[in-house]
Order: sequence, then structure tokens, then C-alpha cells
Amino acid sequence: MTTQNLKDTNVKELTELDKKHFIHPATHLKQFSEEGPNVIFSKGKGIYTTNLIDNKEYIDGMSMLWNVNVGHGQQELVDAAKKQMENIAYSSSFKGFSNEPAIRLAAKLASLTPGDLNSVFFTSGGSESNDSALKLTRFYWGLKGKPEKRKFISLGKGYHGVTLASQTATAIPAFHEFAGSFIEDIHHALPHELECELGDKDHPNYTESIRGIIEREGSDTIAGILLEPVQGAGGVNIPPKGYMQAVRDICDEYDILMMADEVITGFGRTGEMFGVNNWDVVPDTMSIAKGLTSGYSQLGGVMVNDEIKNTLDNYDAVMAHGFTYSGHPTACAVALKNIELLERENLVNNSKEMGDHLQKGLDYLEKKHPIVTKSRNVGLLAAFELYEDPANDKHFAEGVFPSNAVVDECFKRQLILRSAGTHNHIVAIAPPLTVTKEEIDKMIEIIDESLTAFQENL
Ligand SMILES: Cc1ncc(COP(=O)(O)O)c(C=O)c1O
Repeated sequence: MTTQNLKDTNVKELTELDKKHFIHPATHLKQFSEEGPNVIFSKGKGIYTTNLIDNKEYIDGMSMLWNVNVGHGQQELVDAAKKQMENIAYSSSFKGFSNEPAIRLAAKLASLTPGDLNSVFFTSGGSESNDSALKLTRFYWGLKGKPEKRKFISLGKGYHGVTLASQTATAIPAFHEFAGSFIEDIHHALPHELECELGDKDHPNYTESIRGIIEREGSDTIAGILLEPVQGAGGVNIPPKGYMQAVRDICDEYDILMMADEVITGFGRTGEMFGVNNWDVVPDTMSIAKGLTSGYSQLGGVMVNDEIKNTLDNYDAVMAHGFTYSGHPTACAVALKNIELLERENLVNNSKEMGDHLQKGLDYLEKKHPIVTKSRNVGLLAAFELYEDPANDKHFAEGVFPSNAVVDECFKRQLILRSAGTHNHIVAIAPPLTVTKEEIDKMIEIIDESLTAFQENL
């Protein structure tokens, strides 16, 4: 057999096994069961990944799931994991057991996060972080003698994960409604209603704003407000200037915890170490994951401020919350090295500079293709929208799925992007923070060709 034949046999076998045995997350199940995978990733280097199926290199324009911040194939992270595994790969953090990488990472995170977010509860990912944040917040209010503070407010179009509590906080309809799995007492406010949050009671959206919900439910029942500094999966929605401060002010006014979900925005994605730094706002809790390890290992956490930590420190019993992998030593060793790399290679700053360059490319696309509009970025978290008639916010006719189609065209040209938006009209872009100007130019060139192909096929 030739090498090519061997490869083809391998791909065929993997495809059949995949279709038969692997239930894929966030995937069109029927289509997958018929067609199988369109990519089997086999390698990665920088912003490039290799697809075993066609043996071609693809640009990872989304850092996979907005998480591979330092890019693929970073040998130092491999070495850090190997070294820790050789010492002790896994150890428990329950009942007073500890390990050096987790201790050092906790201290490092305290030095990086804004304000007095000085302590961390480790998890294995973003959903667990948000569930833990919600539970710890309720626990905190209980310890403060206010157990009736149990409700939460999250924002429409927010994405916070898929475990029960975080799924309820998620407000993208398909995810929110999946399998009818909800917990009680999480309310969704209309997102980014600045005037309402500044107190404009005459605004038509006031009753569905954060303020409106607090007034309706009673502030003494509200435990926290959970929000992404920039909404990711909901379509890269950037809050208007003043919004994050307005939410902070509401939390202070009503004695409610401000809970930032920095799962995407943390670790340089927005051109600052954390998303909230763009607005100089300090939340009371901060959920982290993804870019914490750049996906080289599964790790998340909830940072809490000193007031919460001091309150927890006075709990005179065992806290009945914890994951087997809370404080996983190998994952923490990888996170420490990942942060070292972010700092040493100035990647947060590169994210800002390359974000500006990317925006110039998007401005060019807006000028060239009248269907492209509302392009935006905060660092390397970017998107543009597609309308049939942008001047009148007119979407494409039913049956046309513009962002899916453009993302598919990009894929044909070996660029991976992501489609979002309830009208299937938003294309998200979030390359690794190591990306160069030349690589961004290449991405823009591919998007340009893909937009042309999409319009020709209409
Ligand atoms: C803002 C945000 N929060 C939470 C999550 C959930 O994280 P995970 O998929 O690691 O559970 C995600 C995942 O995309 C996210 O984007």
C-alpha cells in the first residue's frame, strides 16, 4: 500500500468510528451521523492546524473555541506538563491537601487580576466556573445572614456554559432551551441598555433592564449580576461606553455582587489582561477558563474578592463544594507556563495592536462589500455582520444563512471562522494572540474572496 492509500484507509476508519461512537457537542447530529467529521485535526503550529482528511493546513481564525490564546504547538507548555506529570500528574485538593503548581498559580492570578480579586476556587472549565460562582455567591449571602438573596440576573444573548445553572444563565435561545433544563431564579435582562441602567425610567425597555428587574423582584432577593465584559458566542457584542461602570454602580447601590464571566475575555483576548480592564471596573467575582491554559489543559476558576474570601474563611465547617480536578497540578503547571509566555512575549499588547490592524482590514471589507456592516473589535475579539440592506437593517430572506455560507466559503479556502447571531448574520473572528500582520492580511484576503463567492451564489 502507498502512504496515500494508508492515509485514506485511516481517515475512512476514523470517520466510521467517529460517526458510530462519538457524540459531538454543539453539532448538527443528523447531518453528522450521515456525513461524519469535516476536519480531523492532527497537528497545530502557531495559527495553523492540519486536517488529516485532506492533509491541508487551515488558519485557526477562532483560536478553536476562543481559547488557544498562545497559539498551537508551544513546546514550553508541553515540557511544563511533562515535567509536572513526571513529578506527580494528579493530586487531590480536598480536605487540606495541596500542591505547588496550584498554590503558585493562585498567587499569580491574584497578582494579575484587578482590585482585590485575590483568591481562586479552581474548576475544570468555564461552565463549572460559572456554576461555582453562582453557588458561592448564594453561599456567601447565606453566611452574611441574607439567605433570601438567591436570584441572579444575566443578560440576553449572554453565553455562560451548559451545566444546569450556567445553561439557565445563558440566554442564546437554542442553548438556553436545550432539554428544558433550567434552575429557578435566574432572570435575563435586555443587554446593554445604558440609559435604563443609568436610571431613565421613561425608557420603553426599562422594565426589562437590570434596574427594572431589580425593582420588580426586590433588591433584597438578588444575589448577583452575571455578565460577560464582551459577549462572545452571542455575537461579539461590545457594551456601550459607561455600561460596565453603570452595572458596577447598580451593584453597589443595591448590595448585589457583580460577577464577570471572563471565560473568553480573560488572558489577553481583548488587548488587556482581563476584559473588565477595558473599562476600569472591578467585579466581585470573576469566572476564568479557556485562555488560562490556552486549551493545553482543562482548567477554570472563580476569582473572588477579599470580602468574600474573608467571609468564607470564617465558615466553621467543610464547604460541600469541589471537583476532583479542582487545583489539578498538571493543568496548573501548564497555566503558569502559559501566563509566563503571555507576559514574556508581550501577547496582550500584540492582541491590542493586531486587533487594530484586523479592524482596518474589516473597514476595508465594509467599504468593498455593501452587505458587510457593523464590524467591531476589542483586541482580537472581532466580528462583522451581513445584511441584504444594511442601511435599513434588513436581513437576508428566509432560507439564506449568510454567516454560515460565508464561514463555509472561508473553510473551503482553509480559514476557520465562526457564525453567530439569531439571524445567522454575524461572523466572529478571534485568532491566537501570536498572530502577525501578514497573517491577518491573509485572513482578510480569504474573507474578501469568500464574500465575493457568497454574493455570486445568491
Ligand atoms: C463566556 C463563556 N462562559 C462560559 C463558557 C463555558 O465554558 P466551557 O465550555 O469551558 O464549560 C464559555 C464557552 O464558550 C463562554 O464563552
